[in-house]
Amino acid sequence: MGKSKGSSNKSGSGFTRRDVVAATVAAPVVMALAGSSYSLAQSGSTVAVRKEISSMDSAELKVFRDALRIMKARPASDPTSWLANAAFHQTFCSVLDLEIQVHFAWTFLPWHRVYLHLLERKLRAAVKEPKLALPYWDWEVATPRMPTAYLGDESNPMFDPTRWRADDDESLPKDLANQSQLLRARTYDLFHGGPLIDIRAPATPGLLESPHNMAHYWPGGNLGSFATASLDPMFFALHANIDRQWAIWSGLPSSAGNPTDPRWLERKFILTDEKGLPIEMSPKDVVDTEAIGYRYDNIDPPADVAPFVKGIGPEAAGSITIEAPRDNKPNVLIDKPVIKPLTAKAQASIIKALAADNPKIVVLNLEGMLVPDDLVVSYRFFLNRPDADAFSEPDPAKGYLGNISLVPLGVKGFHPRLSARAILPERAIKDMAKQDENRVTIVPVGITIAPLKFKAPMAPPVKLDFQKISLSVGEPGLA
Ligand code: C2O
Repeated sequence: MGKSKGSSNKSGSGFTRRDVVAATVAAPVVMALAGSSYSLAQSGSTVAVRKEISSMDSAELKVFRDALRIMKARPASDPTSWLANAAFHQTFCSVLDLEIQVHFAWTFLPWHRVYLHLLERKLRAAVKEPKLALPYWDWEVATPRMPTAYLGDESNPMFDPTRWRADDDESLPKDLANQSQLLRARTYDLFHGGPLIDIRAPATPGLLESPHNMAHYWPGGNLGSFATASLDPMFFALHANIDRQWAIWSGLPSSAGNPTDPRWLERKFILTDEKGLPIEMSPKDVVDTEAIGYRYDNIDPPADVAPFVKGIGPEAAGSITIEAPRDNKPNVLIDKPVIKPLTAKAQASIIKALAADNPKIVVLNLEGMLVPDDLVVSYRFFLNRPDADAFSEPDPAKGYLGNISLVPLGVKGFHPRLSARAILPERAIKDMAKQDENRVTIVPVGITIAPLKFKAPMAPPVKLDFQKISLSVGEPGLA
């Protein structure tokens, strides 16, 4: 982000936004060319194993670093250079045109999977090592702090000098970075997000986008804005972990599966391959990771969600939406904790959601939120806690419901509206069921949680502008 100390100050191998803008010039040329169709022969038949960054041994790290150095040394005009690779992210993720934009919708997971796969091929080709695999950063379980392999100085090609966080002294805020609970989503709508059909309507991103946004924000610098994020090699470890969540979810008995709509399956993404030639790939080409040459070392669901995602039958289907009362004015601006009444007449359905033999998830929907164009913000939601503020503990026993984080697109003046969703903890559902009327307090926390060392731009609490709040019991779309 422009205001951060490091990013305007190019030094050594630290790339900046200007570099990526220069490399982007080549992208439209690529887009105009007819893409060669994907075939397995192009990627070879090795299935490499993507490992958690802290379990990569020094030999594996050396190969990975050698490959990064080679790509980084190539000029931006070379389509197999680090800069040309980074430019693709700016083209597809920091863009006003919602026909091209791949965030905030069901294109988020497959586009980034294709992007990582093609970088993996470029890195393999650079060092002629078909077993090279991208590392992933599991910030929730294995490495809840900055991974040390990415720290140091510019002699380490995994380092990025623009980051706001240069050491591993602190853990990510556990609740804001939580993604394992999201594996409880059963439908693709909740997990992947919805299609972008009507650009005038708010988009519905999949649940993973919010913790993903927090993982961008935590290291910050280039990573803190979609315009520059892919310049930082850590971007790819972050996204490999998001990609791994998709791999985990795909194998769960509770998952209702990926979209089957041809608009998803056949959607074309054009990037470049390891030879720098345009290549066209679609979600249908990447649903099976082994078919494109990689798998993860671990796709077991984390222990805290295992009871929810194993053996839930289709009878858990059926949904009801509880609207907030009419006195919720549209386009509510919040600059301090504000209480929203949620008169939950449908007590019975909330209570039913807890039934052990037929559990349903309860989702808090904030519809039509406005995404800021220049600040990263997080909000926490509390139940019946009018006193809650940025320093309130995110403890479900104390009314904590969930959170949402947003990352700016890096396009000035662009404010898409999104519908943000959060799966509520069991404890909150129980507490809701006891009351005739429930109130939700929305607390901006993104910038006030900053510790002293944190170099992110400080700003007053950000106003939240949204159109509607509601609760859903169960997931629409299940038979
Ligand atoms: Cu396209 Cu994590 O961003």
